[in-house]
This record gives sequence, C-alpha cells and structure tokens, in this order.
Amino acid sequence: MQAIVWNNGVVSFLDQTLLPHEERTCDTADYRVVAEAISSLRIRGAPAIGIAAAYGAALSILSPHVSDVAGALKELEESAGILAATRPTAVNLFHALDRIRRAAAGAAGGSLNALRERVVAEALSIHQEDIASCLSIARRGAALLPAECAVLTHCNAGALATGGMGTALGVIVEGYRQGKVRKVFADETRPLLQGARLTAWELRRAGIPVALLTDSSAGSLLASGAVQAVIVGADRIARNGDVANKVGTYPLAVLARRHSVPFYVAAPLSTIDRTARSGSEIPIEERNPLEVLELAGKRIAPEGVDVYAPAFDVTPNELVTAIVTEEGVYRPPFSELGTPVAGGE
Ligand code: MRU
Repeated sequence: MQAIVWNNGVVSFLDQTLLPHEERTCDTADYRVVAEAISSLRIRGAPAIGIAAAYGAALSILSPHVSDVAGALKELEESAGILAATRPTAVNLFHALDRIRRAAAGAAGGSLNALRERVVAEALSIHQEDIASCLSIARRGAALLPAECAVLTHCNAGALATGGMGTALGVIVEGYRQGKVRKVFADETRPLLQGARLTAWELRRAGIPVALLTDSSAGSLLASGAVQAVIVGADRIARNGDVANKVGTYPLAVLARRHSVPFYVAAPLSTIDRTARSGSEIPIEERNPLEVLELAGKRIAPEGVDVYAPAFDVTPNELVTAIVTEEGVYRPPFSELGTPVAGGE
C-alpha cells in the first residue's frame, strides 16, 4: 500500500480521513488540492507531508499556465509558500520544499523543460530516499527489540505516514516478521484517532495482532508489565534530542521511564531540525477546537467550554532511550546529534 504516488504529472493519494471505512484514492494535478489535503490530514505523517509538498510544488510548475523559466520560478515561490503554510510542526515539509527550491535554482539557467524535469526528479528522489530510509530504520529498530516482546505505539507512523513501510510501525512490522514482536498495543490517539483508524487498519492488513487502548489506559498497561518497548515516530527532533510527536507521546515517555520500559523514537534524518537547539524552539501546531469538542461529527461537550488542543507535544531527551535513524542509532547523551552510532544490522 502506498499513501502517495506520482504518476506522470498527477498525484494520487489515499484520503486518510475516510479510513478505515472507505479506501478512496484522490487524483490531482493541482497543488492547491495537495495543500488542502495536508491541512485537513487527508495526507499526514511527517515524511508523507514532505513528499506530498515536494510533489505539490512540482505540479505547480507543470501547469499549462507556466510558459517560461521566470514564470515557473514565480509559480514555485507561490506554491511553496502555500504548501509551507499547511502545517507548522513536521520539519520534513520545510526540508522537502527547500530541496525543491534549490533544485529549481540550480536549473534556472536552462530551458523550462529542463527546469521541470529537474524539479520532478528531485521530488521523486525525496520519495525514493524515504522508502530506503524506512527499510533501514525498520531493520535497525527491530534489532533493538528483545525476543518475544509486546510493543506499544502511539498515533500512526506506518506506511500511511511515509513514502515507504513506516518508521515506528516499520520497526514493529519488521520485528513481527523476524518473530520478535508477538503483540502490538496501539493507543487510539485522541482527538483524531490515528491509532484506532490508521495504525489498527495497517496492522490488520498485515495480519499482525493488535490491541487497541484508550490513551488513558497506557498507565495501567505499562504498570502491568505486559509491554517490553514503546516505539513512536517524530515530527521534529531538536539538536539536543528533544522530540516533538503526536500529543500524548510525552506522557507515554514519562510512564515508560516510571516502569523501566525502553522508549524508542524512530525517524529519518530529515526529521531532525538542526536549527532548533531544544524542543522549546519547535513550533507546536494548535488544531481546531472542534476536533476536541466533537467525536465522529457529534458534539460531546456543552457550549461555552474552552479547549486546549495542541497537535503535538515535546518529549525531553532524558526520557528517550534511543533515536533510530536510517544511518544509525543515537543514544544519550544526545548533545548536538552528530553522527549516529551504527546500530541494528
Ligand atoms: O497529525 P499527524 O497525524 O500528522 O501526526 C503524525 C505523527 O505524530 C507521527 O507520529 C509522525 O508524523 C511520524 S510519521 C512517520
């Protein structure tokens, strides 16, 4: 299953807001549709957001309205601005758009066709590199897991959230293939239920046993000793190893530490923001209050209540056992996140 596909100037993506009830693929050649899909979480998950934005920017310069190089560069600036404004936390979005801008600038001296080809090639590379990163992360992460383990994950960091097999969920799937993981626990992940709707869907499709829990059940689950590792993805990792991920990740890390369960973060290097010294410099997206006030489109709270609705939280580095990347594993102290130490295979 591929969440996003580039097909000769058309982007096809699975509308994740409809899962698990309906598997609908949307096709578009309009970058504004891609931008809306990212804002509305039809396309979501940090690496997938980056890939979609790259394809979106490429679509903008393939438009028949663009007739010369100057027009293409202007169109690219406009589309990149609109795509960049969709979601603020996943740094993969900004890294991907920077790569597209640099590719375009490098080809600005040639023909319009050459510029278009260069930008499309860069977007395809971003996607291909993510597929390879996911594979490497899965193998390195699986190597860290103990035999016969049960794991707990939060949100969705699977194939739906990436270009490849996923990050945290990729580790779990690979661990299952190797016979190390025997059971997966998935937090439902309020308010948008990515765990219930997406992670459980992916795991069932892969034939992997999964038990769903409400986010507030994680404490008693970890206290029971039934889980040997917690594995999550990331939206942005600061230079000191602080990790921004789906809201609810930080309390899980606290619980994991309290119960001496290792807490692993799996993410490609494109999720590291080397300009952020610590988690306090990571912008945290605030979501629409209705996402908390409603469940399945039905109001669940009285009128007049206020809402606290961050989409992400920051887990301080001291609660992280290891960060698994495609090039190796970072372990504490995470200071400056230099070269990861070879780990896994
Ligand atoms: O709001 P979302 O669904 O885009 O949040 C996704 C997450 O928090 C994921 O854990 C993260 O992006 C990593 S995906 C490999």
